[in-house]
Amino acid sequence: MSTNTIKKLSGEDLFKNIISHSKEYGFIFQSSEIYDGLSAVYDYGQMGVELKKNLRDYWWKAMVQLNENIVGIDAAIFMHPTTWKASGHVDAFSDPLIDTKDSKKRYRADVLIEEHVAKIEAKIEKEVEKAKSRFENFDETMFRSTNPRVVENQKKIDEINARFKAALEEDKLDEVKQIIIDLEITCPVSGTRNWTDVRQFNLMFNTQLGSVSEEASTIYLRPETAQGIFVNFLNVQKTGRMKIPFGIAQTGKAFRNEIVARQFIFRMREFEQMEMQFFVKPGTDLQWYEQWKKTRMAWHNSLGFPESKYRFHDHIKLAHYANAACDIEFEFPFGFKELEGIHSRTDFDLRNHEKFSGKKLQYFDPEDNENYIPYVVETSIGLDRLFLATMSQAYQEEQLEDGSSRVVLKIPPFLAPYKVAVLPLVKKDGLPEKAREIMNQLKLDHLCIYEEKDSIGKRYRRMDAIGTPLCITIDHQSLEDNMVTLRDRDTMQQERVSIDALMQLVEAKVSMHAQLRKLM
Ligand code: GAP
Repeated sequence: MSTNTIKKLSGEDLFKNIISHSKEYGFIFQSSEIYDGLSAVYDYGQMGVELKKNLRDYWWKAMVQLNENIVGIDAAIFMHPTTWKASGHVDAFSDPLIDTKDSKKRYRADVLIEEHVAKIEAKIEKEVEKAKSRFENFDETMFRSTNPRVVENQKKIDEINARFKAALEEDKLDEVKQIIIDLEITCPVSGTRNWTDVRQFNLMFNTQLGSVSEEASTIYLRPETAQGIFVNFLNVQKTGRMKIPFGIAQTGKAFRNEIVARQFIFRMREFEQMEMQFFVKPGTDLQWYEQWKKTRMAWHNSLGFPESKYRFHDHIKLAHYANAACDIEFEFPFGFKELEGIHSRTDFDLRNHEKFSGKKLQYFDPEDNENYIPYVVETSIGLDRLFLATMSQAYQEEQLEDGSSRVVLKIPPFLAPYKVAVLPLVKKDGLPEKAREIMNQLKLDHLCIYEEKDSIGKRYRRMDAIGTPLCITIDHQSLEDNMVTLRDRDTMQQERVSIDALMQLVEAKVSMHAQLRKLM
């Protein structure tokens, strides 16, 4: 058993290292890098595209393949402009922004306030952790409700949240600015409080459809994939003979002109969503909402990352379409942040599409012999954020027993870009030919990589760095006894196995089936 020590990295250092590692090994590049890049837009490289595809496949299989009542679609990015009027995005898909006159930097007013609250929360947690380490039979609930510093800070948080919620609900942007002033929030760049007024900024990108300027009409790049599902609700229901409750799933690009776009692929202007709209009978929506919260959390836990890395966060301010909503947050290197949203969207979207299009979007329920507009529970996860969560969890720097070190991506094997590396020990004596035979056997089922350059040690390190779970080394003995060395990425253990057993051994290690079975 290896006794490698894992290097402890601070959140900031870990994040920096993940970003540079992602570039160095072909996972993620800045878009149009040769022109100095485009802000908050990224390209996936040869490794990244594989990991992203595997994450997407795992989501798709868990949603569509395992659930007989969920089907998929692939709607166009461009939609009729009225779609966005009906959905409320033209009027309400905006963020409150604020600038500082000194640094000319722009911020999201709500994020400034939320970050201030997060700092107070951190103080509380520090206090709790300190007490926990001091007392053996520590009663956390009692401590939180009686410790004067904790109680005082919690009171502050509740007051800020209540005031902020009221300001947003009443759309009082001057009150939002006043909260920022009262909390003495300063611009992180200039350190000053010379704030402009808060104003709303619509996040949708628009462009012109049509070649002749007089005839061209303004259309939007979709800010969510969900609307492609809503407008196709009846098409799918009728042609697929779907019975409520049923779901429609979709993965695809979405675009938002984010005010503050930073933190690498966490907040981008072009990103990919994986969404599922689940159509239910009115009145059963909140039960289904609870059910989907459980189902989605179970899916996240099936990835094998610690459960303590996830938590639910209920929305203070509900989006214009929701009667209940929460986020599944993940602990990224920069703290707990939204990874997935689960929203009970009522019949808001279908009802409005019915109104704006003049077409009936109702379901005839044969059991109750009645027509109704279904209610919708939505699960919506950002693929890029899932990618970042996976990289954050997988990235490890280790000090090895022999004094050397390695960087390893402990990506769950069924998601790893390459599943197997096939490595002839030397480039001669018939070893490459034998290795190619093995490669040809395995590559029909798995993405494999063949490497014959550099020493075997260097090749193992490279495979660790891109997260390849298994390495197969072919040596001179292999030609005699038909055995090879199988090396495990995580334990670094090596064993001699028969070439005839390889297919089965690889399958057992990297199979997505075994993983999906856990969700059934
Ligand atoms: N249809 C509902 C919807 O779009 P959302 O909470 O705005 O809800 C859903 O977005 C998910 O999309 C988020 O949980 C997040 O993972 C991802 N997402 C949203 N904006 C993003 C951005 N600018 N960059 C990357 N991912 C983003």
